[in-house]
Amino acid sequence: MELKRRDFIKKISVAGAGMALAPNIISASEKIQFSRVKPNGKLNIAFIGVGGRGRSHLKNVCQYKDVEITAFCDIDPEAVTKSQKILRDHSRKEAEVYTGDDHAYLKMLERDDIDGVIISSPWLWHTPMAIAAMRAGKYTGIEVSAANTIEECWDLVNTSEETDVPCMILENVCYARESMAVLKMVREGLFGEIVHATCGYKHDLRHIKFDPGVEFGKNAKGEARWRTEHSLKRNGDIYPTHGVGPVATWFDINRGNRFVSITSVATKSTGLHQYIINHPQGGEDHPNAKLKWKLGDIVTSTIKTANGETIVISHDTNLPRPYSWGFELHGNKGVWGGEYEGRRIYIEGKSEQHQWEIGKDYDKYFKKFDHKLWKEEEAKAKGAGHGGIDYFTIKQFIESVKNEVQPPIDVYDAAAWSAITPLSEASIASNGSPQFFPDFTRGKWMTNKPIFGLE
Ligand SMILES: NC(=O)c1ccc[n+]([C@@H]2O[C@H](COP(=O)([O-])OP(=O)(O)OC[C@H]3O[C@@H](n4cnc5c(N)ncnc54)[C@H](O)[C@@H]3O)[C@@H](O)[C@H]2O)c1
Repeated sequence: MELKRRDFIKKISVAGAGMALAPNIISASEKIQFSRVKPNGKLNIAFIGVGGRGRSHLKNVCQYKDVEITAFCDIDPEAVTKSQKILRDHSRKEAEVYTGDDHAYLKMLERDDIDGVIISSPWLWHTPMAIAAMRAGKYTGIEVSAANTIEECWDLVNTSEETDVPCMILENVCYARESMAVLKMVREGLFGEIVHATCGYKHDLRHIKFDPGVEFGKNAKGEARWRTEHSLKRNGDIYPTHGVGPVATWFDINRGNRFVSITSVATKSTGLHQYIINHPQGGEDHPNAKLKWKLGDIVTSTIKTANGETIVISHDTNLPRPYSWGFELHGNKGVWGGEYEGRRIYIEGKSEQHQWEIGKDYDKYFKKFDHKLWKEEEAKAKGAGHGGIDYFTIKQFIESVKNEVQPPIDVYDAAAWSAITPLSEASIASNGSPQFFPDFTRGKWMTNKPIFGLE
């Protein structure tokens, strides 16, 4: 049965050589029944990591009547209890639980009744878990970032190619209404030829990196148990994909274009120390006040693409500030600043004055270029995480598993986007010297056609 499925994926890969592999353009005759679909016709999804993010995905998957939630794995008893409650609250039967040690997920992956796995674990677990899932023949959805080192990026690509099992990076900002409308604007030439973009992850995470008080690590809560340590030990853009994911879709990265090189610089690190000494539960004498944080408060990277564009990416999580993805897009006919950057647009020849269009004038563009997905499914997305974008991410994953096709955000995107972290670290460590992206597609970027967000 397993072979049948792999042969199928291989078959469409060969059939699709030189053409796009899009879920929505696979003809009915090319589809086969999913090899592990239960007799009741349901698709089976399992989860590794059901903390904050995993449970949000779990709630999303619960909406699909034709999807069974077979099993999940988490080492935290509280996460297990909360997840079973979510299932009961959605009138579903409790799932089989795999827990007890860090490698319990391997046992879960031996099950036959799992078609796809959603991985929402701490970063250092992403690649080993995704590799094990692909090796077990389970379609893999992996949270962001997908990998921590260049070697891990290659491991993801090589494993997906060797096993013929697809791996989707679950980058939800690609599905933001604004990101998808801008994608349409780019494709329809509103900005002329695209030249430059800015993006980033500008999120004051100090209360998340320390919880409770100024604690992190073993005795802390939520992401403070594992995320904070990365700020202590790494100096680079450690969370690049929310910003760069949408830009990669606008710039056709891996599909006619690719990231070539990156140069990165980091400021000094002040924010986390300051937070600790000023916190009522911290202070100058708190042991954590003695720590030397490696992560610069603001990390700025510039990527150069094969088609001659530049992308400036910011990572800014240690200082007081309102949230932003930092989106700006510049073309030779106009410029746009996104939701958190003033919601403003200027198009030469269209904008009446040589000034930003804002408010209702701005909204007109976004109404005109609203993406079909959002126009048709806004109501269904309501209530899903991050303003509805998580609905579309999970829907895409489930549809790709159902249809047994490559997702529109694939393993090559996972590798290229995640590679920003180790490359930016290497650049910062060498005083901003350029680092070069491996071509994870091994040349296929030259002929691959864009498939994300086709209408
Ligand atoms: N796309 C988004 O908008 C978004 C938002 C939040 C988090 N995330 C990503 O999701 C991932 C998880 O983040 P989170 O906020 O849910 O963190 P979390 O700490 O709340 O959850 C992680 C879970 O993984 C479990 N876990 C750890 N090691 C494990 C192992 N070996 N086996 C099984 N389970 C294990 C933990 O017990 C915990 O329940 C991270 O990669 C994060 O970057 C993405």
